Amino acid sequence: MRWTRADAQKIKASSDPNVAPGTNSLPTRLTMPEIPVDFPVMKDKAGKQVWVWDTWPLTDAHGNTYSFKGWNVIFSLTADPYAGYTFDDRHVNARISYWFRKASEPNKPWIYGGHVFGDRTPKTQAEWSGSARVFNNGQVKLFYTHLDFADRAKPDATIALSTGALRANANGVWLTGFTKTTPLLKPDGTYYQTNDQNPYFSFRDPYTFEDPAHPGKTFMVFEGNTAGKRGDYQCQRSDLGRSGENPAQVTSAGANYQMANIGLAVATNANLTKWKFLPPILSANCVNDQTERPQFVIKKVGNIYKYYLFTISHAFTYAAGLRGPDGVYGFVGNGIRSDFQPLNGGGLVLGNPTDLNLTSTDPLQNGRQFQAYSHYVMPGGLVESFIDNVEGVVAARWPRPSSCGSAPPPPPSTAPSAPTVCSATATSQPCTTSADTSADTSADPERR
Ligand code: FRU
Repeated sequence: MRWTRADAQKIKASSDPNVAPGTNSLPTRLTMPEIPVDFPVMKDKAGKQVWVWDTWPLTDAHGNTYSFKGWNVIFSLTADPYAGYTFDDRHVNARISYWFRKASEPNKPWIYGGHVFGDRTPKTQAEWSGSARVFNNGQVKLFYTHLDFADRAKPDATIALSTGALRANANGVWLTGFTKTTPLLKPDGTYYQTNDQNPYFSFRDPYTFEDPAHPGKTFMVFEGNTAGKRGDYQCQRSDLGRSGENPAQVTSAGANYQMANIGLAVATNANLTKWKFLPPILSANCVNDQTERPQFVIKKVGNIYKYYLFTISHAFTYAAGLRGPDGVYGFVGNGIRSDFQPLNGGGLVLGNPTDLNLTSTDPLQNGRQFQAYSHYVMPGGLVESFIDNVEGVVAARWPRPSSCGSAPPPPPSTAPSAPTVCSATATSQPCTTSADTSADTSADPERR
């Protein structure tokens, strides 16, 4: 299925051209509520803050959240705010941690369990997003993305599996195992772009599930890019839909640098240690460069199953000539491979408050345009995300490295360059603001 430019144009078309500058121009029903600036922060057992972003719950084969011996368990990408690197640099230092709390006490804070893999990942490598499936006796298969930053200009990504087990008593949850990692998939260069074809490629975020239409099989969706050498692609009429544009002009505007897809693979053994690529189920060629953390919510409606495919995307990864907010997007179809229809016309499900009449870099732009990201949709409709930047106030509340402003350069854009601010002290004003690459500048292939 193609998420076309005509589809995505509906997002801007649904935005109100007459709002007061810098307020929210998106339809209210598609806009996240404003996050209070005094939101609670997550801490470790010693009471020290932990940087937390992409988060996912423990689930069964059908994506249902699962409590183990009365405890709810979640997994997050985490980094250490006290280690001397910037918030942007958390991506190259990411470690998967787990948290738990009593299922009967959903309003209590999550209790930090620690790094799932201890400290076995070398410093030049990172653990990126994935999903956690529970099996009998508390066995957990953690699918995740292993990133190797030995060459920071050309990081290497592998979709991987590590297996362990949950243990619990009245006082809490702990993990055993997770001592080794099995590599599962590397991009093939035929369906899924490699780092040789494009150093800014995306290949990550595995989410596995069983499909009621194919009992006994396990599938995986993941974030990919359409294979081919960066910049070679010529935008097709089918990528445009009825956008009223000319494919050659769209290509020459640079839209062909935005080539996201949602990949599909199927397990070829019962242990889920062997996988085979299938063609992507969604392409966003010349529309957007990142369809991240894809997941399915499959719902029985009457006698048939409806397949809701959710993915997150950024304002700054839209192709030239298109606009949309940071948020979660969705598509609905009748199977894993389907003629998916974008939800709400253009695909936007829930965006940050944004004024699409202004560029992202306009000083008047809504200060909450990047307030949250990395949304995950639970089967019951609850959506969680991490708090990114609430008008700069978030950064002011974080502990900051004293070297603010002289930190090493951020990794290439395989890591999402989440706009963030950096304060020298806990109370000072931001001292740097990372460059925002809004859609209006994305025609320039080097600004992503
Ligand atoms: C989404 C994301 C994921 C990736 C992680 C890296 O926020 O870009 O695609 O796994 O962040 O930090």
